[in-house]
Amino acid sequence: MRPLIAGNWKLHGLARQLGEIGAMASSLSVNPPATDILICLPATLLARAALAVAGRIAVGGQDCCSEIVGAFTGDISAEMLRDAGATAVIVGHSERRQHHQETNALVAAKVVAVWRTGMMAIVCIGETLAQRQAGETLAVCADQLACSTPDDIGTSLLAVAYEPLWAIGSGRTPDQDEIVEVHQRIRQCLVARWGAAAKPVRILYGGSVGSANAHEILMLPEVNGVPVGGESLNVRDFEKICRSVPAGASRIKN
Ligand code: 13P
Repeated sequence: MRPLIAGNWKLHGLARQLGEIGAMASSLSVNPPATDILICLPATLLARAALAVAGRIAVGGQDCCSEIVGAFTGDISAEMLRDAGATAVIVGHSERRQHHQETNALVAAKVVAVWRTGMMAIVCIGETLAQRQAGETLAVCADQLACSTPDDIGTSLLAVAYEPLWAIGSGRTPDQDEIVEVHQRIRQCLVARWGAAAKPVRILYGGSVGSANAHEILMLPEVNGVPVGGESLNVRDFEKICRSVPAGASRIKN
């Protein structure tokens, strides 16, 4: 499975950084690493970023409205993001669940809205530190996954991002065994629900991934990519992370 490296710029990014993104996209097109590369930008930058990268890498949104159209002042629909050049949207990031009280049901409705447009939905799940310490990680993740994804939708445009809340922006990550354990459980849940159709669903690990640890994380079984927050803001670091996937390899592991 071709991995996915997805930068998440969060509440960062102004027009002056577009030149850097364009230059990085050009640089990555020389001897390109064998990975899909996506940068999820503030909606204000999407259209210009799509022009700057000229199709060499993908751009995506960080959230969208669950509604398609209507009287929802300030909201941005999935179709608007696609219209601006996005090909993927992050939904249910823990920062939205925490700061905007997004529920699993709302996240599932957003997934439907994204899928309707033909874009990929990257659905985020993950446990708090208290939940990990209480031994609830697998149950919490399985429940969030089940309740944040609708049944009756194809899986070819779905990715699941496992992002433990305590690892985001903290410089801490779970042990490799712990990452693999959660990813294997996510895969089991996907297969139990969708059978063979779950095979193409990428399972990403996010939370303090950087150029120093991306390679080892990407080599773990059932890790099919990484969302990157802080280190994606520096294009040199982000390119290093992308290049930690070997060039020319059709797959980096079984
Ligand atoms: P950091 O890479 O800054 O820990 O953020 C991870 C994240 O939230 C990706 O969506």
